[in-house]
Amino acid sequence: MTELPKITPAPNGPLIVENPPNRIGAVETDVAGKPKVALCYCGASANTPFCDGTHYTAAWSRAVAWKVCFQKIADL
Ligand code: FES
Repeated sequence: MTELPKITPAPNGPLIVENPPNRIGAVETDVAGKPKVALCYCGASANTPFCDGTHYTAAWSRAVAWKVCFQKIADL
């Protein structure tokens, strides 16, 4: 039986995916055999779909990102 992926959001950082599927992201990047990957959640990575650490320099905050998202929905 195949073990399902486990996704854990890092505080103000990427989504940590343990046991990822063989292909990931819109362009289906091959991650076969990797036990764990970090997916960019801030949208600033130059290596999408993976986190490259840019969220540190971008001072990105998940709370601020959600606030902006909810405001955009409210403005519709
Ligand atoms: S979450 Fe790390 S670069 Fe986007």
